[in-house]
Amino acid sequence: MSLYTKLSDMRTPFISANWKMNKGIEETRAFFSEFVSLVKDAKSREIVVAPPFTSLHTAAGIAKDTNISIAAQNMHTNDSGAFTGEISPLMIKDAGCSHVILGHSERRQYFNETDHLINEKIKSARKHNIKVIFCIGETLQEREDGNTFNILGRQITEGLKDISPEGIVVAYEPVWAIGTGRTATPEQAQEAHASIRQKLREIFGDAAENTRILYGGSVTAENINRLMECGDIDGALVGGASLKPDSFAKIVNYDIK
Ligand code: PGA
Repeated sequence: MSLYTKLSDMRTPFISANWKMNKGIEETRAFFSEFVSLVKDAKSREIVVAPPFTSLHTAAGIAKDTNISIAAQNMHTNDSGAFTGEISPLMIKDAGCSHVILGHSERRQYFNETDHLINEKIKSARKHNIKVIFCIGETLQEREDGNTFNILGRQITEGLKDISPEGIVVAYEPVWAIGTGRTATPEQAQEAHASIRQKLREIFGDAAENTRILYGGSVTAENINRLMECGDIDGALVGGASLKPDSFAKIVNYDIK
């Protein structure tokens, strides 16, 4: 099978921004005032933007009636209660989110999120009908030790335990490629994506063919085409290059040559 053969036409390309801890309310307004018209014709793409919590309501208000959906970057498992500083699934829905990013490597690394906790969060999001961008990925050390596929397998098996495939998008983000300018080569990414799809087949059966697997890690307007040509890459999760409306719009509007 060629690296460049798409296995399924069922997988609408999914391009998501992850703004991380960037952009207040005015910056969010400024971004959308340019971005909405730049992507209005991208009908064959699913477009998501994930602002920080404080900008969600503003972003969702502007994105309403456009082809752009809004995601939170995290959420708590519980609906409400004594969890000072936390934000519940009901709150992100109330703010206008249809999606949530869960299991990002920065959450795993800096906030000690475990596979088990991420699994609980995914269950909670799906209970509330929130779509999930579920992030996985190996560190440089794990790759150099030859453990990439074991790590990805464990993250998928534990993270998706007792979860059904509807509303789940998987994002493969090698930790060594995030914010470093060091993208995985299309060959490295495709190899990892193929192994992820194989694991998904074991868990989801045939539904794995319809599950989108995004690549994340230093995606830019310059490398998106080559990545999207790979058979098992169905979209991108974009950090740094999603902060400017024109550079993110170029990624959304990429074209397969
Ligand atoms: P990056 O971030 O595009 O800045 O590498 C990607 C991510 O962490 O989702």
